[in-house]
Amino acid sequence: MKHNTIESVSLIELPKISDENGRGNLSVIEKEILPFEIARVYYLYDVPSDAYRGGHAHKNLQQFLLPLSGSFDVILKDGKNSRTVTLNKPNKGLLIVPGIWRELENFSSGAVCLVLASEVYDEADYIRDFETFKKQFS
Ligand code: TYD
Repeated sequence: MKHNTIESVSLIELPKISDENGRGNLSVIEKEILPFEIARVYYLYDVPSDAYRGGHAHKNLQQFLLPLSGSFDVILKDGKNSRTVTLNKPNKGLLIVPGIWRELENFSSGAVCLVLASEVYDEADYIRDFETFKKQFS
């Protein structure tokens, strides 16, 4: 299992193409921008503002989180330190490496969190208990 720290979690800014005639913006993700091949895409939506998502770490999975609409906070923990990143720009996403505990909260009304993942869904890749996570990572 990989031992990463929260410093290894990085923000990636995507190109933003603003239309010259006021028709809005366009952002694009091409394969060079992510360090993994996309195996799965899913998205969170209709999340109540007091709801809490995540609350787990992954052993091998890499994920790129993008706030397609609205905003939310991502709390990152590596067993020693923690930091909170607010995602609120549709062209700025968060690359989460394996072995990082994450919690998502404070979803704005209408927020949509797109997740690009390096693997297909596998419950065996999850660590859902924080004490177990801490034992393995600190
Ligand atoms: P979970 O990853 O725990 O959601 P979150 O971290 O956003 O709170 O997944 C919630 C439920 O959805 C869980 O029962 C597993 C299921 N699920 C899938 O079937 N496929 C998937 O790709 C994902 C991400 C979740």
